This record gives sequence, structure tokens and C-alpha cells, in this order.
Amino acid sequence: MHVKNTKPYIPQEDINPLLKDIQTALETGNLTFSTEKFEEEFAKYTGTKYAVAVNSGTSAIEAPLRYYNIKDKEVIVPTNTFVASANAVVYAGGVPVMVDMDPNNLCADFEDIKRKVTNYTAGIIIVASCGYVPPYMFELKKFCEEKGLFLLEDAAHAHGASIKGYKAGSIGDIGSFSFFPTKLITTGEGGMVTTNSKEIADYVKQVRHHGQKNGLMTEMGYNWRMPTLSAILGLSQLKRLDSFIERRNEIANKYKNAFQDMKEIELIDVPGYITHGYWKYPILLNKYTAKEFQTILKEKYNIDTGTVYYPPVHLQPYYKENYGYKEGDMPSSEQNLKREICLPIFVDITDEQLNYVIESVKKELK
Ligand SMILES: Cc1ncc(COP(=O)(O)O)c(C=O)c1O
Repeated sequence: MHVKNTKPYIPQEDINPLLKDIQTALETGNLTFSTEKFEEEFAKYTGTKYAVAVNSGTSAIEAPLRYYNIKDKEVIVPTNTFVASANAVVYAGGVPVMVDMDPNNLCADFEDIKRKVTNYTAGIIIVASCGYVPPYMFELKKFCEEKGLFLLEDAAHAHGASIKGYKAGSIGDIGSFSFFPTKLITTGEGGMVTTNSKEIADYVKQVRHHGQKNGLMTEMGYNWRMPTLSAILGLSQLKRLDSFIERRNEIANKYKNAFQDMKEIELIDVPGYITHGYWKYPILLNKYTAKEFQTILKEKYNIDTGTVYYPPVHLQPYYKENYGYKEGDMPSSEQNLKREICLPIFVDITDEQLNYVIESVKKELK
């Protein structure tokens, strides 16, 4: 049996209506500038006033960063993230300042965030890692307000996840989402910016279209537009999101029940006031390194697994070379991520596959 680590879920019953909408778009030639419906529904779902569709999760970070004019300013970024979160800061002209990881939730360490704020800090990017909105989210928001910093929630992993009833992407000044095919919902490629600020929403709309407004270019912009075909898929996927989250939590519970008494594994605890999105199901290993155990699961059982993220951003060759980071700078990330793997999780994983993963992990670790 082969078990993939992740895959998108577009049920057969959605494909026919999708094809009909795609056919209409093809026949009318309406292939871009047609994302309003998806934006409206996404804003409603997330609980923000505005949502602006763009062509990637990375541009969904960079475009609002440009609004804050971060040129030569520092922006705090967790080191345990995909490189895109930090790269967007560099592209927008700022300096990413990495912070270490809290091993309890695999998100940024709030204490390290506080330590890294300087007079040059413009704002903070927080990542709801694997779909876990950090438990200190409201304290962080208050901290940012007191210090005059913007708070950007990189919710690329966290569509539909929530804390105390507030959805990821609705708490900070800005939320950014990715619709890459591995994500909780997909548009093929794509991204979304959420905000309650009309000024930010208007700015992103302008810069995603080469900085033009009413036919004149008054800002530096780019082509960050989302194609109509992507928005059609996004709208269809959005209708499924709640059921996807429910299913992912069901899978996560099965893993939890199977592994919670094993001393060879540490699980990530989630308090009752957080609804985890479970984009990934991470575990910390006590017996093997992640790399060793990934190889065992692949070679002996044909099970694909992932990491979030190794190496962490500060140890990526580019950041070591250009920003002077080195081994030892972020001890928690360096130690914990070496032993962290993500088990297969996707909506249509079968019971047979899930049991096979559970039994294989148990067999190797016990
Ligand atoms: C945390 C995080 N931010 C941003 C991105 C970038 O998204 P995209 O690949 O859609 O540009 C990703 C993609 O994996 C991500 O995991």
C-alpha cells in the first residue's frame, strides 16, 4: 500500500458544476478580473470586512507589507516557517528578524518575539503552524497595539482554524492565505489577503494590478492577479472547508488516541478553545531523527511523510550567507525540528490507510 503525505480533495460531485462554470468562463472569455464572488464569500467565512484575491500565498504577504513601507525596517518572522514568509519581507525591502520556536505548539516563541523587538521593528508575521493558531494570539495583538507594530497573520496553513471563535486571518491587521494544492483548500495556485481596513484592501487591489487605479499608476505594483478559473475552484472548495476541518480533526483524533500513551512520541497538545485546522499532523520523535524515521516509513512501508520545516529558515544557505545566521542561534527549532515529522493527513484518506500508518509507526517505535 502507498500512502501519500497530503493531497487536495475535489470530490466528484463538485467536478461537474465546476466544469460548467469553467465552460462559461471559457466561452465568455472572462478569464481574469472576476474574483469578487470568491472574495466576498471568503471575507464572510473568515469574519473580516474585506478579502482580496491574489496569485499566491507569497504575494498575499508581500502586497500588504508594501502598504506598511517596510524599506530597511525589521519584521519579525518565525524561523519555523516556509521560506516564503521571510522572502516576502526581503522582496518588500525589509529585514526579516527570525525568532525561535515554542515546542508546545510549533509556532513562534512569544518570549523570543518580545526580546527581538527593537526601535527598527515595523511589525510581526505570525504563522499558525500546521493549522494551530498560537494560544497567545490575543496577547500578541495587544502587545503589537501597545508597541505600534503591525500584525500579519500568515494563515497559509490555517483556513478555517480558529481561537475562541475567531478565525485565523481575522485577528491581526492582515491575514494572508495560500491556495497551493497541498493546502486546506486550493485554487491550484493562489492567495488571499484578509483585513478589516478598507485602505489596506484598496491598496492591495491596486498593487496587484500594476499599481493602477482609475487608469492611472500611482503606486509601484506588479501582476499579482488571480485568474478567474482559480477563483471558480476556490469558491467551490470554500463551501467544503468546514467539512474538511471536521474530517481532519477526526483523523487527528485517531492519531492522538493511537499514540498518546507511547513514550517514544510526543504529541502537540491543543487547548479546547482552539480549533486546529490540521493542515499537518506533526509528532516529535524520541527514538529517531526525523530523517531516519522518514526513511524507515518510506522504504519499509511506502508511507510518505513531511516536515514543518527543516531546515528552519535561519539555517537555509541564503539566510546564513546574507544575514549571518548560524547553527546554535535558535536552539529550540534546531533541536526539535530535527525530530519532528508530519504523518499523512488528507480528507479522503481511507480507514485502511490510516490504520496502516498507525500500525507501521507503532511497530517501528515500540
Ligand atoms: C507559512 C507559509 N507562508 C507562505 C507560503 C507561500 O504560499 P505560496 O506557495 O502560495 O506562495 C507557504 C507555502 O507553503 C507557507 O507554508
